[in-house]
Amino acid sequence: MNKFIDLRSDTVTKPSPEMRKTMAEAEVGDDVFKEDPTVNKLEKFAAELLGKEAALYVPSGVMGNQICLNVHTQPTDEVICESDSHIFNYESGSPAALSGIQLLPINGKQGVITPEQVEPFIRPKSAYYMPRTKVIEVENTHNRAGGTIHPIENIIVLEKLADKYGLKKHLDGARIWNASVATNISVAEYASHFDSISCCLSKGLGAPVGSIIAGDKDFITEAYRVRKSFGGGMRQVGIIAAAGLYALENNRERLIEDHEKAKMLANVIDKNPNFKIDLSAVQTNILIFEPLTLSVDEALEKCKEKGLLLSVGRVGSLRAITHLDVSDEDVKETIRILKEVFE
Ligand SMILES: Cc1ncc(COP(=O)(O)O)c(C=O)c1O
Repeated sequence: MNKFIDLRSDTVTKPSPEMRKTMAEAEVGDDVFKEDPTVNKLEKFAAELLGKEAALYVPSGVMGNQICLNVHTQPTDEVICESDSHIFNYESGSPAALSGIQLLPINGKQGVITPEQVEPFIRPKSAYYMPRTKVIEVENTHNRAGGTIHPIENIIVLEKLADKYGLKKHLDGARIWNASVATNISVAEYASHFDSISCCLSKGLGAPVGSIIAGDKDFITEAYRVRKSFGGGMRQVGIIAAAGLYALENNRERLIEDHEKAKMLANVIDKNPNFKIDLSAVQTNILIFEPLTLSVDEALEKCKEKGLLLSVGRVGSLRAITHLDVSDEDVKETIRILKEVFE
């Protein structure tokens, strides 16, 4: 078997020949001196796209989120988030280690927490013996919930709640591009309800590395200082920023094709009695489904033997993600392999 169909993540894409050409030809300079013209161009383009005053290129989505949380908080503060969120489950406990803060996770539905759920958890200002609530965090689309979209109506009421209590609002928009093409709501409209946003260039959009954080000028000035302190100052990084810019300019609209492929796969999986899937959660490019006749480990192994790579979703479930490097043929072959393994 020399070629796997790799549905483990939308991060597994390889830069296309055109993207590589753009990278090879990128003008570069020392970005720690702010002298990399390609990074400067990417940050300007991203800030405009996101409707924010300024943006900063960072090495990863985790660093993007953690810089934003650090800027918004002081040690001993608390951040409210959804219990399946990436910052709570998949960022190595770094809010505690890097910023001395704690997270307060609240169980949501398809990744969404409502103001009615959140308000009772906001700590009273007078309670000096409690942590101080500082930030409400939202993830859109929501990875662990299966690529679900956070409804804009709920974002607006969460924003009102945060404003009522003087809290900061942070958006983990690693896949905000997917939410935007699925709903026709611009990324700027989504970002307008938050003080900060972190979004990935290396998921779905096909760039090999990098994320963008955006906010107002004062926020980014501070974020620039924190990025350096976290070891994220980079030098002639225009080489990879060029791929990020290429991805933003060329690969956003086509995400709709990934969503169509995910829906197609979900419908087939739904009809197979050996699986359980919640079709209402398949809103973008992620599918989470339970194998009923094999364990998750057995299913992963047997699919791999046939040339299909899947990953683990929530406990007891499989995850498949469609992306730029998954063709129509790959979808057909995936359907064939799943049928063979599960019948
Ligand atoms: C929702 C979400 N936020 C943040 C990240 C972190 O991105 P990175 O892997 O670039 O650090 C991911 C990665 O999958 C993610 O899914």
